[in-house]
Amino acid sequence: MNKTAEKIFRVLPALLLCCTLTAGCSQQGQSDSDAQPEETQEAEEVKYTIDNIRDYVVGVDEPVELADGTKQPLINFDNAATTPPLKPVMEAIDNEMKMYGSIGRGFSEKSNHSTDLYREARETVMKYVNANLDTNTAIYVNSTTDGLNKLASALIESEDDIVLATRMEHHADDLPWRERCQVVYAEVDEQGRIIYDDMERLLDEYDGKIKYVCVTAASNVTGYITDVHRVAKMAHEHGAMIIVDGAQIVAHREFSMQGETPEEDIDFFVFSAHKMYSPYGGGAIVGPWDILDKHMPEFYGGGIVNIVTDSTVSYKHSPESYEAGSPNYAAVVGMAKAMEILKEVGFDAIEEHEKKLNARLIEGLKKIDNIIIYGDTENIDDRVGVVSFNFNDINSYIMAVNLAEKGGIATRRGAFCAHTYVWRLMGISDEEAQTFVNCIDMKTPGMIRVSFGIYNTEEEVDKFLEVLSSLVDESRETTKLSSEAKPEY
Ligand code: ALA
Repeated sequence: MNKTAEKIFRVLPALLLCCTLTAGCSQQGQSDSDAQPEETQEAEEVKYTIDNIRDYVVGVDEPVELADGTKQPLINFDNAATTPPLKPVMEAIDNEMKMYGSIGRGFSEKSNHSTDLYREARETVMKYVNANLDTNTAIYVNSTTDGLNKLASALIESEDDIVLATRMEHHADDLPWRERCQVVYAEVDEQGRIIYDDMERLLDEYDGKIKYVCVTAASNVTGYITDVHRVAKMAHEHGAMIIVDGAQIVAHREFSMQGETPEEDIDFFVFSAHKMYSPYGGGAIVGPWDILDKHMPEFYGGGIVNIVTDSTVSYKHSPESYEAGSPNYAAVVGMAKAMEILKEVGFDAIEEHEKKLNARLIEGLKKIDNIIIYGDTENIDDRVGVVSFNFNDINSYIMAVNLAEKGGIATRRGAFCAHTYVWRLMGISDEEAQTFVNCIDMKTPGMIRVSFGIYNTEEEVDKFLEVLSSLVDESRETTKLSSEAKPEY
């Protein structure tokens, strides 16, 4: 039986039972899926490109107040944390709200419309990451963190299960596994790239006992892109499945869950929509529906059951079994629209633009005295638009606050929810890192991170370099005078 037929077969008895039980069944027959929503006024047809996309980003010209009371538009170089919404994404959500009704629970035209759109968007999501549509499903989640936690709570069956992760992972792809089972970690090299041979070594050492290999598609600290298809092949050869954290790749590079051969295919891909210009929650787990069907996350409530009696619960199958409660419809609408626009802008153009910004930034940073730039600054082709740096005589907290308050530039400062990776890059031992446990912000070592979005410009990079240079002397003085500030590493 194919998947669609099987789903109908599964749902039919529940529907019949529901109609029999519903008093009057007066709303029956209203599930007219041909019913069309009221035509919304079509906005003028726009072709989104890398050259005009800045005009369609919300808030780029919004002034922010600086420490001296003046106002100027913010240069936002914190896109790895979250991205601003695109105007068409907001408009799509706004339009759809006119026809918003309960998802999978009602019979009105609005309810049918929303339910259809919600379900159809699963295909949009799967196509965006080139998943095999016959074998996969898309489960909506609130974010990458939510998705990886749900996946871990579903897939991990015992604390003796073994997961292979890397020291490059951010916490969302480390702690959900660490808290539930044994995790072994492949190391990174001196420049911070994953050591693939170390992954292979661990897979050999554990001799078929590793169940899942969890790896990020791109680092939120150095921007390195992982060769996930190479990792998939290794994992599959050793009987493991591969789970890819896609948070930092979805808005930066075209991603295909399918490799050149089936052994290179990605099993699970998890990402957030707020990192792709739709910050309303949302994201997805894309993965094989038959495997997902064999498990359930520890997340219960309405919408995931066929029937509940005093003593029994009959659960639905995936994807519904992973989506307890009323869905976040706006997030799904926004995510689907953002995907459409990113594809229209085109990943070749996005990649070229980002590489230009990265090269300009790195070259500029190299000219500043006493700077430490993390990761490879010569071969930068395998880096998305993320660059982290430090000064060896300036506290990064002081500099980041100055950049924001005096320069009107948003960066991120700290260890970016990727502590073990950041400590490695900074040459801090695990023993020393343990002493930071009660440190206040300024005392905890960290880095300054610039992360680009599709709308950032070369002029902004130049301005950033100018402002950064102008703040060096003052920030160094403040560092010296502050009893809280530790020199950086
Ligand atoms: N969202 C986190 C970041 O800023 C992980 O990179």
